[in-house]
Amino acid sequence: MKTIILKKNCVDLVNIQNITHIYSTDTISKPVLNNVSLSILVGTSCAIVGTSGSGKSTLLNIIGLLDRPSSGHVYIAGKDMGNANADTRAITRNLLIGFVFQNFNLLPRLNALDNVALPLLYRGLSRDDAKEMAYLKLGQVGLSNRTDHLPTELSGGQRQRVAIARALVGNPTLLLADEPTGNLDSVTANEIIDLLLSLNHKQAVTLITVTHDKAIAARMQRCIHIQDGDAHEVRDA
Ligand SMILES: Nc1ncnc2c1ncn2[C@@H]1O[C@H](COP(=O)(O)OP(=O)(O)O)[C@@H](O)[C@H]1O
Ligand SMILES: [Mg+2]
Repeated sequence: MKTIILKKNCVDLVNIQNITHIYSTDTISKPVLNNVSLSILVGTSCAIVGTSGSGKSTLLNIIGLLDRPSSGHVYIAGKDMGNANADTRAITRNLLIGFVFQNFNLLPRLNALDNVALPLLYRGLSRDDAKEMAYLKLGQVGLSNRTDHLPTELSGGQRQRVAIARALVGNPTLLLADEPTGNLDSVTANEIIDLLLSLNHKQAVTLITVTHDKAIAARMQRCIHIQDGDAHEVRDA
């Protein structure tokens, strides 16, 4: 397995410079991000807020190397990802980045344990090793007693815990969450944010979460507001 070397003394885990993003089809050209620059220090927590359609998911997908910007630079752990080929981007994503989505994105035919083990199988681990690590991660999110349940047999909060365990099973440095509580009631939402923040505090996982919930944004160290294609640092969401 290849390893990604972090640049020595690199404190900016994410550094994007002059990002512009335009969605283009044959007939339409839709500019979404316009010259956005920001950096995120390792170990910090950050909310991304903004109205629906403002470009929050687009920005998160660019940071998470799921999408390439139309122009500008993306550095992850000091490495220029713009010049990186698809393989290097995929390896960086697999080793450094975990994703959590609003609708959980669990595979419906796999039980909780197999859902969490899957990223490790992609990494080439044996089935037994992958399952053992998945079991430990499910324990960390409080689901040791639900490992053999299918997603349909779990509540929304439990499904999101499985998704968080899956995002964390490879010990990522960066956790990206796109409206992780959008489908949850407020009590469950708070429990999920407690969990994400405890991972940020105790395991120094850098956390970037898109949210439109002001109370959640207020719990992050930083809050970045996307408006009119630009990103502004705000104190109050
Ligand atoms: N693949 C795409 N093709 C064309 N337009 C898109 C695509 N994805 C998103 N958009 C548009 O780009 C804008 C920003 O989308 P998005 O980043 O998903 O916003 P947000 O997450 O803030 O709601 C929206 O107007 C959306 O309709
Ligand atoms: Mg979105």
